Amino acid sequence: MRTDGDQVSQKISQAEQDSLLREAQSVSERAYAPFSKFFVGAAIVTSEGKVYVGCNVENSSFGMTNCAERTAIFTAIADRERSGKLDIKAVAVVNRDGVPCAPCGACRQVIYEFGPNAIIIYRDKQDKIAQTPITELLPEGFRLGE
Ligand code: THU
Repeated sequence: MRTDGDQVSQKISQAEQDSLLREAQSVSERAYAPFSKFFVGAAIVTSEGKVYVGCNVENSSFGMTNCAERTAIFTAIADRERSGKLDIKAVAVVNRDGVPCAPCGACRQVIYEFGPNAIIIYRDKQDKIAQTPITELLPEGFRLGE
């Protein structure tokens, strides 16, 4: 049975939003993006309140590129305590230079795996900071066996 939607996604407070955006902005400075020059940072917060950051890492073989959001999530997985389940409460993503940037489709699916109730914070196409549930950005997200 699906579990997403059982809990109503809560908006993230202004203070927590600002702090996640600051962390994402800071790590975007360390992005490795010599090919696209599109420098991205992401910060996630877990339901336990732990924060992890990540940046995009490109490669001469373009398809090997890893997005900032997935870098942050994979870091969180590696840091997970033995029985702890990663539950992502929110993800903030920023382009270093202030260009609007919502998570790509692949990252939406990865976020959904670990955060079916997650709120995504990003600069939208109207140039406003948006808070949108992952289930709105990725309707009918895939879950094996459901
Ligand atoms: N990128 C991210 O890191 N996250 C996103 O949400 C969108 C795209 C990266 C991948 C690539 O290094 C560059 O931005 C241009 O696509």
